[in-house]
Amino acid sequence: MSHHEHLLILDFGSQYTQLIARRVRALRVYCEILPCTVPFERIRSFGARGIVLSGGPASVEAPGAPIVEPELFSLGIPVLGVCYGQQLIAKLLGGRVAKATAREYGPARIEVLASVGPFASFVEGQRLEVWMSHGDRVDELPPGFVPLAKTAAGPFAAMGDLKRRLYGVQFHPEVVHTPQGTQMLASFLDECGFARDWTMGSFVESAVATIRAQVGGERAICGLSGGVDSAVAAMLLHRALGEKLRCVFVDNGLLRRGERAEVEQTFGHRFHLPLTTVDASARFQEALSGVEDPEQKRKIIGKTFIDAFEEAVQGDQAEHGEAKFLAQGTLYPDVIESVSFKGPSATIKSHHNVGGLPERMRLELIEPLRELFKDEVRAVGRELGLPESIVSRQPFPGPGLAVRILGAVTPERLEVLRGADAIVREEVDRAGLMESIWQAFAVLLPVKSVGVMGDERTYDNVCAIRAVHSTDGMTADWVRLPYELLATISSRIVNEISGINRVVYDVTSKPPGTIEWE
Ligand code: XMP
Repeated sequence: MSHHEHLLILDFGSQYTQLIARRVRALRVYCEILPCTVPFERIRSFGARGIVLSGGPASVEAPGAPIVEPELFSLGIPVLGVCYGQQLIAKLLGGRVAKATAREYGPARIEVLASVGPFASFVEGQRLEVWMSHGDRVDELPPGFVPLAKTAAGPFAAMGDLKRRLYGVQFHPEVVHTPQGTQMLASFLDECGFARDWTMGSFVESAVATIRAQVGGERAICGLSGGVDSAVAAMLLHRALGEKLRCVFVDNGLLRRGERAEVEQTFGHRFHLPLTTVDASARFQEALSGVEDPEQKRKIIGKTFIDAFEEAVQGDQAEHGEAKFLAQGTLYPDVIESVSFKGPSATIKSHHNVGGLPERMRLELIEPLRELFKDEVRAVGRELGLPESIVSRQPFPGPGLAVRILGAVTPERLEVLRGADAIVREEVDRAGLMESIWQAFAVLLPVKSVGVMGDERTYDNVCAIRAVHSTDGMTADWVRLPYELLATISSRIVNEISGINRVVYDVTSKPPGTIEWE
């Protein structure tokens, strides 16, 4: 994709690398992350206006520690090394790096020594809170470098070669615990000469042009799931291709109440996307019949989806003509994950997506969102006029309610859970908490308990409520929902949903729990 100016972030394996990218983009500069292992030619031809070298877990002195071609420092563009990045600059350019006598982890105070580079908007002698996390440190500056900041424990908390515009900081400007970190990154970007005018509007424009160039006059298919990513991908493709786009929505029967109607209403009627809905609920129900094991359920749902989707697309093509492209709502974190310097993370649950489909169907893949983070996808959705109810919607797993019904999935249990889930969503929404909570939902347990209603003994299902805060789904904490809200949810569920006589609240964080129960 052509962005008129961009920054390159070379990843040395830090857990914070993605954060650097997010901060930079929030400062309206387009950037990409590449693993430090890419051939130097790729870096050169990337044409960046500035480069950031990320932190990393290794010691630059350890055998086999990741490095870059020193030629990088002669490209004539500004470079900022963060933590490991700074140590690497020092080592490669003739300085010295050693084990820090006093390891610094956590908050520290630096004193600015020169008002240049990342510190251009601060004054000499100013003290700033920063976040450190390092065992090694620069002990001797390379020739041409001067100290830019110091701490009580170390004289080179930041360094710079002002002539070549090479900078290093020992701390992490990208984390929130460095309150002025964004300001430092902004100064570095200004030093690189960025106009800082990258917006979602400009993204939409260039994405539309790229899609048109890639697809030519051919036709494309986009799977709609009701989630934000596929919704935004479909809208973008529709803007680029108009009637050459077909959207296919597979109703697996595992959706929440009203979901299918909302998809048809929003995309079919309101935005006039060419939409084919396939009701595959019976097929999913049959495939899942009697299956209790969570992984087996996920595998069956994944496979059934691919079969149903493929058939739907074939049917659609027979009616509307051959398509050559399949769109997928892959996001940047997935792209980074798969090329990461550390390698893809271990699989805890087999997640459900359309991986493998394009090859099998001999369709070429289009991924219009592969450069965006989730919050950027939402911004693009708003730019494209999607309603807030879709744009800011909570994540919902591909296997749907099946992973929230512990044990076998039956039409009756689905109906019970749908009712409880609708109440949770309604009440969380009424309390104004929908957007501040990552996910809030109900889970139907394979447990019955005794209760009393009127003068009658009951023996019915237990329903768990789960609500979590998270920024990426990787870690999460349970939400301290107001007791009054929990009380309302609980009494509404037991009163309105026949089949549930007890409600419990899940107070487990992730880790050790996962967000979904299966
Ligand atoms: P877990 O349960 O692994 O979930 O803590 C993390 C996040 O991922 C969502 N999730 C899925 N999303 N397909 C998806 O598209 C899946 O198979 C799937 N399983 C879990 C979950 O809702 C949470 O946001």
